[in-house]
Amino acid sequence: MRYTLLLAASAGLALAAPHAKTKRDSSFVWFGTSESGAEFGSEDIPGVLGTDYIWPDTTTIQTLIDAGMNIFRIPFLMERLVPDTLTSSPDATYLADLKSTVEYITDAGAHAIIDPHNYGRYYGDIITSTTDFAAFWTTVASEFTTNENVIFDTNNEFNTEDQTLVLDLNQAAINAIRATGATSQYIFVEGNSWSGAWTWTEYNTNMVNLTDPNDKLVYEMHQYLDSDGSGTSDVCVSTTIGEERVETATEWLQANGKLGFLGEFAGGANSVCDSAITGMLDYLENNSDVWLGASWWSAGPWWGDYIFSMEPPSGTGYVYYIDILSAYFPGGSGGSTTTSTAPSSGSTTTATTKTTTAATKTTSTASTSTATAAHYGQCGGIGWTGPTICAAGYTCEVENAYYSQCL
Ligand SMILES: *[C@@H]1O[C@H](CO)[C@@H](O)[C@H](O)[C@H]1NC(C)=O
Ligand SMILES: *[C@@H]1O[C@H](CO)[C@@H](O)[C@H](O)[C@H]1NC(C)=O
Repeated sequence: MRYTLLLAASAGLALAAPHAKTKRDSSFVWFGTSESGAEFGSEDIPGVLGTDYIWPDTTTIQTLIDAGMNIFRIPFLMERLVPDTLTSSPDATYLADLKSTVEYITDAGAHAIIDPHNYGRYYGDIITSTTDFAAFWTTVASEFTTNENVIFDTNNEFNTEDQTLVLDLNQAAINAIRATGATSQYIFVEGNSWSGAWTWTEYNTNMVNLTDPNDKLVYEMHQYLDSDGSGTSDVCVSTTIGEERVETATEWLQANGKLGFLGEFAGGANSVCDSAITGMLDYLENNSDVWLGASWWSAGPWWGDYIFSMEPPSGTGYVYYIDILSAYFPGGSGGSTTTSTAPSSGSTTTATTKTTTAATKTTSTASTSTATAAHYGQCGGIGWTGPTICAAGYTCEVENAYYSQCL
C-alpha cells in the first residue's frame, strides 16, 4: 500500500469527523505534462534562443502546479547540451537554462523529468557507443546529484534500432547516473518502438533485465489514441481505445514486478477522446500497483493552436481537458489528505493473473498518397508512412531524421 492517511497523532483528533475533501482521491503518485520548447528547431543546431527554441514559461508552469500537477517533463536536445561529441563538456548557457527550469519546478515541490528528446540519435545517427552515452549521462547527472525531485529519463523514444542496443544503452545510463552519486532519484527508462505501451510486449521484453543498485527504475511508456498511435490526429479510434492499448503493458509490469509511468499521452478536444482518455486513466488508476501516474503531451509556450496544447490559458488541450484531468491529480490545492510514500520497483508485486481481454491492436492505417497532414501533424521522417504533404498554408519542416512536422 503506497498511501497512508495523514492522521493526527492525538487520539482525540483522530476521532473527529473526517476532513471534508474538495476533490476525489487519486491513486496516482504523479500527474503532469511535458513542457516543450527547448527541443524545438532541431534542424537548427545549435540555433538561437528565442528564435529557434524556447525554454518553458515558469509562469504557466506555476498555473499548472496551482491546478495540482506535480510532474513536468523537460525535453531538450543533446546536440545543444553537448555540441561537440557525447563525451564533451556541456554548453554553459544551455545547461544553466536547463537547470533553472528544472530548479523552478523542484523548488516548488514538484518533480522535473530531464528528457533528452533525441530518439536514441545524436546528430541523426543512432547512438551505438554505450560508453559515450554513459559519458553524456555522467555530465548531466553530475549537475543534479543532490536534487531528489529530479528524474532522469534515459532518452525519448528509441525506435527502429537494435533491441539489445536499447537495453544496453539504458543500462549504461543507469550505471553512469548512479556512479555520479545521484542515488536517490528515480530513473525513467524508455524502450524501442517509440516506447509505445501498445507494442511494449512485442519489442521490449528484454528490458525486464535492467538493474538498478538503488532500485528506483520506472518504465516510461507512451500511448496515443489515434488510428496509427502516432499522436498526430485529434480523432480517437473509439471511446475504449485508451484502456485497450495499455492492457498488455499493464500485465507485463504486473507479471514482472515493475513500475510504469505513462510519459506521453493526449487526445483531441472531443467527446470520443474524452471518454477514451478518462477510460484509460481510470484503468491506470485501478492498476496503481504498477502505474505511478501520467504526463500529457504537451504544454509549452510555442504550441500555438496545436491540437493537444496544454499551455495555459488558451491551449486547445488545456481549455478542454484541465478540469477533466484534475480529477486524477494527486495533490494540489484540492486538499487531498493522502500522501505518497515512495514506492520501490523491487517491491513484491503480487503477479495476479488477470483475465483481461487481449488489447485490440489497431493496425497502422496506410495513408493514401493524396492525404495531407494538418498543422503540427507529422509529414515525414524515417519509417513514416503517413502523408508527406501539408494542408494548405503549412510547410513540411524537418525536425530531425525521424520527424518532420507541418508548420
Ligand atoms: C534476461 O537475461 C537472462 C540472462 O542473461 C536471459 O536468459 C533472459 O533471456 C533475459 N530475458 C529476456 C526477456 O530477454
Ligand atoms: C476499476 O475498478 C472498479 C472496481 O473494481 C470497476 O468497477 C471499474 O470498472 C474499473 N474501471 C476500469 C476502467 O478498469
